[in-house]
Amino acid sequence: MAKLLNFANDIDTEHPHAGIEALRALGPVVPMKMPLMGKIHVTTTYEATAALLTQRERFVSEPKNAGKSGSPVPFPLPPSVRYLMDGFIQKDEPDHRRLRGFVDKAFAKSSVTALAEASYDHSIELVDRMKGTAGQNGGVDYLTGFSTLMPMRVISVLLGFPPHMQERFLEWMKPLRQMEVTPWGIFRILGSVGTASKGIETWSKTLVNADAQGLIAELVNLQEGTDRLSANEMKAIVFTLIIAGGETTTHLLNGALWYLLKHPEMKEHLRANPADIPGFVEEMLRWFCPLTTTKPRLSACDQDFGGVRLKAGDMIFPSLLAANTDEAVFTDPWTFDLKRSNAVQHMAFGSGIHNCLGRPLVRIEAQAALEVLLDRWPDFQADEGGKEPWYMFKNTMGRRSFKWLRMRSA
Ligand code: HEM
Repeated sequence: MAKLLNFANDIDTEHPHAGIEALRALGPVVPMKMPLMGKIHVTTTYEATAALLTQRERFVSEPKNAGKSGSPVPFPLPPSVRYLMDGFIQKDEPDHRRLRGFVDKAFAKSSVTALAEASYDHSIELVDRMKGTAGQNGGVDYLTGFSTLMPMRVISVLLGFPPHMQERFLEWMKPLRQMEVTPWGIFRILGSVGTASKGIETWSKTLVNADAQGLIAELVNLQEGTDRLSANEMKAIVFTLIIAGGETTTHLLNGALWYLLKHPEMKEHLRANPADIPGFVEEMLRWFCPLTTTKPRLSACDQDFGGVRLKAGDMIFPSLLAANTDEAVFTDPWTFDLKRSNAVQHMAFGSGIHNCLGRPLVRIEAQAALEVLLDRWPDFQADEGGKEPWYMFKNTMGRRSFKWLRMRSA
């Protein structure tokens, strides 16, 4: 039997084209291997990815619904992070609907105007600071100067965290951002999640007061009826929002800047035509696809899927990048096309019951980040000519992460 490709590192983060097309040539669903998990399957077409994410009777998130006992991860979780399994991202219906219902209600009450204002205000402050630093040092790293900070600050506003907590979170979550795909990397992450959980727990207690603002306070206020969130459910929701909404947006902003630095003509086009920025963001979500895959689904029963035989409990990863680059849906899919008429059909935000809850916020943040950068630092360019290359990708499974992305004034 042919050696299985490794899902963690056989698809190049910078140039995924060859790897994805090679997989697609093998069929719509392909067996691969993965560190700690062993044999898994991956979808390689739009149709198979959509089926995996939407056919709830065939594919589930909770092991118990696939005839298995235990946790969805194949190693013991320390008690400090076990509560994460109570988050709605891990649940099937009806538990998922119940928990997401709380968050949907709280989200609907959060002010879009306040989030847009925060996105613009933080973008202005950070872009001006980066430009100043670049002036003094000859160049600046977009990751440390902007893309890591801005989404975290906006999420903090959404949740109602005071400013001092934002910086602390960034510190706690460092191992997550720096993670390379190794078993040791995964255990370091669990450690940092444990530290951050304790911090959230201590701090959340201060929210039970009349003046508290933000989504956590809304969740606390929704607790008046008979159906109440447990302490673990509450913590899991907060943590899910921080993880889901911080890192992911960082990768999108990085992808957009990388593209503009490589294509100055696009930068000039967007400066002259800011009304095209939303279309640019949508095509960037499709073409760059910040999360190339999301959490696995489990086969609910023994069944055939995309030409392979699955057993109940087998793990299948939906490749969002493969869906977004499927020629059956997107013409000339590996080309970035600002005028693509069906870009919005992309699956960068997933599909089905777990589709991304933060998508309106992402669009607001990306619009603000790009508009402010193009307006306040119009002559930015790639910081070429140094000892190191001006950008470097990182080998992170499922995410298109950079190590750095350096820019300067012309
Ligand atoms: C570019 C940025 C983002 C991308 C690419 C992204 C992508 C995704 C994807 C692919 C999923 C589906 C997960 C699955 O099916 O297992 C998801 C779910 C989710 N996202 Fe996002 N996301 C982004 C930003 C955000 C933001 C800013 C927030 C919150 C403020 C957020 C909150 C969530 C939540 C809570 C879920 C779980 C939904 C559920 O299980 O019902 N995301 N996201």
